[in-house]
Amino acid sequence: MPSINADQVPKHEHVNFCGETYRISPKMIRNSNPYKPKALLLFGLKWIIITLTCVYFTEYNVYKTIGIAILMFYGYTIFLLTTITLIACGGKKYTSWMAGTMVPKIMKQTDIRFGKVREELLLNLSGKVLDFGAGGGAYLRYSFKHIGNVTEYVCLEPNKNCHDKIRIEYEKCLANYLKDASTTKPNIANTVIPKLQIECKFLQQYVNDISEEENFDWIILGNVLCEVPEPNKILRLLDKLLKPGGMVYFSEHVRDEDGTFRAFLQDFLAPWWQFASDGCVCNRKTLHTIKENTSWKIQNWTFFSGAFLWTSKFEVGIAHKPLD
Ligand SMILES: C[S@@+](CC[C@H](N)C(=O)[O-])C[C@H]1O[C@@H](n2cnc3c(N)ncnc32)[C@H](O)[C@@H]1O
Repeated sequence: MPSINADQVPKHEHVNFCGETYRISPKMIRNSNPYKPKALLLFGLKWIIITLTCVYFTEYNVYKTIGIAILMFYGYTIFLLTTITLIACGGKKYTSWMAGTMVPKIMKQTDIRFGKVREELLLNLSGKVLDFGAGGGAYLRYSFKHIGNVTEYVCLEPNKNCHDKIRIEYEKCLANYLKDASTTKPNIANTVIPKLQIECKFLQQYVNDISEEENFDWIILGNVLCEVPEPNKILRLLDKLLKPGGMVYFSEHVRDEDGTFRAFLQDFLAPWWQFASDGCVCNRKTLHTIKENTSWKIQNWTFFSGAFLWTSKFEVGIAHKPLD
């Protein structure tokens, strides 16, 4: 079932931020509203078919029916979570491999869900871009949307298993662009194509290795602050790497409000989820952490649309580093 609490989604349709008007609405998130008649109907139909099938095969045994229905309905999720937990028991080598294989696929789905919001918030993406914790490079395609604006695209990704996926994604974006451009734009030879750089480093090491002048016009933070060991420190480093006047895009799943069932679930599951998912912490108050550790001016939107109930509250937005 798509996870969202539709009545909690703010309806900021037009927001002016740093001289730009952003048009963001909950309708832009795919599968975001389970209360839509179509989604409700499908959900109900699935349950009725599964329950009736179970009733028939268990010869009207209530307990067996409930057990089998739950397995049939949530079997895939239960299987998936059990499998990743077992793989994690094998140690870091296996979790990294699993994360490198599965993260790009899962994040592709997230990109499909949030695609329209991302397009809108990244419409001014330009200059030198840092994709911090780039995964499989799901954000690369936005640097090809307004071609000529992004000059360099640096993917900082410590998991080597993701690097080929980033290269493949880049080649795909480039091929798509060249295919379109060959028919519509006669002057493609003069167009600036974003230059890709992949760095297999953690942030502190990267900062140590580059010169002081090397800083960024844009930083992309896509579901990464949930994974870094010390988000406060990381944010202060990122702030240093961002040019005055530079912009940040963020999309992070966060802890729910105190006292809600989801917050309880997030606190309860956090140790297991961190272990099974190669380091993702599902109960961080990331928006507060960004505000506390940077001087950025922030515009955020709250959505409820995650792969799991404990990762369903998202803070998505942009930030601007003042000039002085
Ligand atoms: C959930 S994935 C998100 C990938 C991508 N940003 C996206 O949205 O599709 C988080 C990524 O952050 C990376 N990561 C984890 N810890 C990191 C760290 N300390 N520094 C940089 N990247 C890190 C992981 O390897 C992983 O690829």
